[in-house]
Amino acid sequence: MSGVDQATKLRELIKQKEETLPPIETREPSRIIAVTSGKGGVGKSNIASNLAIAFAQAGKRVLIIDADLSLANVDILLDVHPRFNLSHVIFGERKLEEVLVEGPEGVRILPASSGVTELANLGHAQLEGLINQFSDLADETDILIIDTAAGISENVLAFVAAAREALVVTTPEPTAYTDAYAMLKVLSTRQVEVQLGLVVNMAGDEREAAQAGENMVLVCRQFMNMGIRYWGHVLKDPDVGAAIRRQEPFILYAPHCHASRCLRTLAANLLESHNGSVPRPRKGFWSRFVEHLRIK
Ligand SMILES: Nc1ncnc2c1ncn2[C@@H]1O[C@H](COP(=O)(O)OP(=O)(O)OP(=O)(O)O)[C@@H](O)[C@H]1O
Ligand SMILES: [Mg+2]
Repeated sequence: MSGVDQATKLRELIKQKEETLPPIETREPSRIIAVTSGKGGVGKSNIASNLAIAFAQAGKRVLIIDADLSLANVDILLDVHPRFNLSHVIFGERKLEEVLVEGPEGVRILPASSGVTELANLGHAQLEGLINQFSDLADETDILIIDTAAGISENVLAFVAAAREALVVTTPEPTAYTDAYAMLKVLSTRQVEVQLGLVVNMAGDEREAAQAGENMVLVCRQFMNMGIRYWGHVLKDPDVGAAIRRQEPFILYAPHCHASRCLRTLAANLLESHNGSVPRPRKGFWSRFVEHLRIK
């Protein structure tokens, strides 16, 4: 076979191979942040929702995926009433934009508590249809925040692995702390490409938070050779509970309370130090997510 024939054959082979790969999304939000934790009830949904509002107040267009499969939380915290969810989109009953609901400060919410697991079983054409709808949405979204369920389940890990950044939330309590460590350990064995960060919630004071945060950073580096950044903390604050009872995000209910101040600092830190030079993965978010779910 001549050199020219070989080159043609090779190009054909590559083309065939590319056609069998999951579709590649061309557009996705510039930041995709998964908010996750080892232990339940540490404040993920509160941090995800209030962070979304703080980003929106800073002029960003924000979409939250409420991905907690057991209990949908973001809708309750933001007092929105979704009629449909991701499963309606997957089964072709609704368009993606019909499923989205708008919360305070124009933050949009995709209720995904139902439907996420079905994604793993979608055929190529169905997945491509869904991905195209998400690509259109990406043009109107600067930051995508995913509020995951707690714990080391395959679908939580797939969301974290598909995101570009992950905020692992813990409290300074040993139980939450060890569960956060266990989750990071699993992530380290999977060699995920996500930038890992830590947030300490419900801290008694700044010193307690910093001690817990910095300790985790050290332990991760020493025992797992894993780089994780301590992004900041949110103090334990009775206004958080009061805001939840009113179904209002605390950052709007009590903008000057301790928790709101911490949250704004956290949001500002995240916005300021965005590293735009991080190489974009070859595949888009949903392709990465489905791939991780299928690999398990
Ligand atoms: N900074 C805080 N100060 C005081 N209470 C807080 C704070 N953050 C969270 N809480 C309390 O913790 C509870 C759990 O918070 P949240 O629902 O955000 O946790 P979660 O990690 O999303 O839980 P789950 O694992 O069930 O999804 C809240 O109902 C609230 O009462
Ligand atoms: Mg939650």
